[in-house]
Amino acid sequence: MRVLVIGSGGREHALAWKIAQSPLLTKLYCAPGNGGTANVAENVALDIIDHAAVIAFAKSQNVDFVVVGPDAQVVAGLGDDVRTAGITCFCPSKAAGQLEGSKSFTKALCDEFDIPTAAYARFEDEASALAYIYTQGAPIVIKADGLAAGKGVTVAMSVEEAEEAIIDCFSGAFGESGTAVVIEDFMEGEEVSLFVLCDGETLLPLTTAQDHKRAHDGDTGPNTGGMGAYSPAPVMSEEDFHFAMTRIVEPTAKGLAKRGTPYQGVLYAGLMLTDEGPKLVEYNARFGDPETQVMMMRMDSDLLPLLLATAKGALKGQHIVWKDAYALTVIMAAKGYPGSYEKGSEIRGVDRLDTDDLTVFHAGTKREGERLIANGGRVLNVTALGSSVKEAQGRAYQGVHAIDWPEGFARSDIGWRQAAREA
Ligand code: GLY
Repeated sequence: MRVLVIGSGGREHALAWKIAQSPLLTKLYCAPGNGGTANVAENVALDIIDHAAVIAFAKSQNVDFVVVGPDAQVVAGLGDDVRTAGITCFCPSKAAGQLEGSKSFTKALCDEFDIPTAAYARFEDEASALAYIYTQGAPIVIKADGLAAGKGVTVAMSVEEAEEAIIDCFSGAFGESGTAVVIEDFMEGEEVSLFVLCDGETLLPLTTAQDHKRAHDGDTGPNTGGMGAYSPAPVMSEEDFHFAMTRIVEPTAKGLAKRGTPYQGVLYAGLMLTDEGPKLVEYNARFGDPETQVMMMRMDSDLLPLLLATAKGALKGQHIVWKDAYALTVIMAAKGYPGSYEKGSEIRGVDRLDTDDLTVFHAGTKREGERLIANGGRVLNVTALGSSVKEAQGRAYQGVHAIDWPEGFARSDIGWRQAAREA
């Protein structure tokens, strides 16, 4: 089977790394890829915004299966266009992808199918949004309605912070995505991510994970795309898992099917574990980054047939085998991230690190001959296995310390909550 993975981050390196191990694979491309995907696939310099170019390449190379990684391509309907061209594709439809593309779409779905989530209101103008927060007070959550590259959500602990977030949104900080805001009640609890494959009808749970969105130790500093993650997340009990599947994920999949827009792909449910049980924080309509990196390290099963079965409506009867281990990933980012940062510095000592228990996934790198060059904000994902989160954490940080990259930084406490519970 000839496969094309779309994207260039750590998530796509992890997916390509896992797909490359499949006995079903005969050729793997990654577009545009990065310095790490180049080790397991042939990178193709395609502009992935240009759907016609992606399809023309796939046809010219007899690609059998396209796997789409990034949210922007899901929301733009790349999956629909690839399927229309007659190629099997792992990517929800544009209609179902609104779960991620529009916060108010998901909130309305929750209302319609009685899915537990925070109470909310939606506003299309600044004055009404401000009036609402003055009556509600803080803490309160302000979300740009559309996709905002992970930056459109503010958990405002004061009314002033909420005001600032609303003014930012309506002043164009998130472009079209900020022409409306969704304002939600603040939910108290610990956040966990649940990943479930859905073929339109059948659901097959993958696993749970927790990520670390803030830039600095102790969960402080600005929000980022994710500075580290671990899986599974033992904070989610069996009971919570059952509740989340039956009251959140199943009604979502059934609701979308009932509306005539079935969901085919991976459902990434961001959940808050509240005193009243899990509640939906948000949906993403694709694999998480960096959660995919830890999931792929833990997965024993062949990923490729699972993705194919999802895309073909054939998940019934499939099952997944996981390693009896925890995985933890530490993100190495360019100094300054998530603000402005330099590209172009050389990174040394990465290629000799990989073992059975440690893999360095690349996010923002490129190769210049033999040299590995930083080419983005989040640059490397040092990912390790262990019999506990603490053991995986120790192994991952040994890897981080062995990498010679003075222009980079990492948080030093990824996995802290679970490591403390294990102590
Ligand atoms: N881990 C956050 C995300 O993938 O959106």
